[in-house]
Amino acid sequence: MKTTSFSLQFFLSLALVLGGVKPDPDPLQDYCISDTTIPKFFFINGEPCLNPSLAKSSQFVTSALSNKGNTNNPFGFNVTLTNTDNLPGANTQGLTMARIDLAPFGVVPPHSHPRASELTTCLQGTIFVGFVTTSNRLFTQQLRPGDSFVFPKALVHFSVQC
Ligand SMILES: *[C@@H]1O[C@H](CO)[C@@H](O)[C@H](O)[C@H]1NC(C)=O
Repeated sequence: MKTTSFSLQFFLSLALVLGGVKPDPDPLQDYCISDTTIPKFFFINGEPCLNPSLAKSSQFVTSALSNKGNTNNPFGFNVTLTNTDNLPGANTQGLTMARIDLAPFGVVPPHSHPRASELTTCLQGTIFVGFVTTSNRLFTQQLRPGDSFVFPKALVHFSVQC
């Protein structure tokens, strides 16, 4: 009895650990342009796909990140994201893009993305970025225009304009 209970407990713990590190599955088709006109009868991972024969190059391009966000708020930052409305061709591709505008001394407060790593590229000015590991080790770096920094998946990270 005791052995069975232990085995079950071990299996459940292992399943949780494995589940926590499982990446997004590979897409089952070349692309799945989101069709937001289809009513949602059930929940799926992403938006329903447009008929592939209706695909156009323009569905893979976006200007959503071309405009500066308004940073007039307590933290002095603004995040503009791509999504299935402004970049339908990225639906189900397992990636999103963000433009972050930081006012002088603006801060993107510490946060994490449980299922995604993040790559930050500094385009203008200088930013101080960092992340904390699961064993509380802090990694930081000052970025200048052209520098990129990776925040590993699920780790708490932040950015500060300085
Ligand atoms: C971010 O900028 C956009 C565009 O200026 C604005 O509509 C939005 O309210 C801003 N968000 C915040 C949190 O300040």
